Amino acid sequence: MDKVNFHFEIDGDNFTSAGEASVKIKKLLREMGFDPEVIRRVSVAMYEGEINMVIHANGGTADVDVYCDRIDIILADKGPGISDISLAMQEGYSTAPDNIRSLGFGAGMGLPNMKRYTDEMKIESEVGKGTTVYMTVKV
Ligand SMILES: Nc1ncnc2c1ncn2[C@@H]1O[C@H](COP(=O)(O)OP(=O)(O)O)[C@@H](O)[C@H]1O
Ligand SMILES: [Mg+2]
Repeated sequence: MDKVNFHFEIDGDNFTSAGEASVKIKKLLREMGFDPEVIRRVSVAMYEGEINMVIHANGGTADVDVYCDRIDIILADKGPGISDISLAMQEGYSTAPDNIRSLGFGAGMGLPNMKRYTDEMKIESEVGKGTTVYMTVKV
């Protein structure tokens, strides 16, 4: 297996479909025979990143590149960007407004968990332009 790419468009204004791409990836990786722990890490990291694009960036795209020794997740959006990435990475830090919190989002644990569940994570962000998150889970 060289590389298999799965591409998803993440809808920014539909909270009911938020998280669907990570559910699809979970099923696909299961069919491909990956270790359940690897699948769990990929789907948790991807779910958090997907939710972030929905609640903070009005949607975006998710690309999952599957290799035999690693899985790369690339989440790209054209949202407001993150002005202070190290602050955003802190546990409990959230700019989510009350209406989003009432839906159960905004605990400020998304980015810290994405970091925790992956082997590599890099955030590129420009205020007013958007954000791209690169994550790698080693197999
Ligand atoms: N894709 C994104 N675009 C813009 N801001 C983001 C994005 N992802 C995260 N952030 C910012 O980083 C903060 C922390 O994110 P996270 O740890 O997932 O917590 P939460 O989503 O619960 O607020 C968010 O509140 C938001 O300010
Ligand atoms: Mg979040």
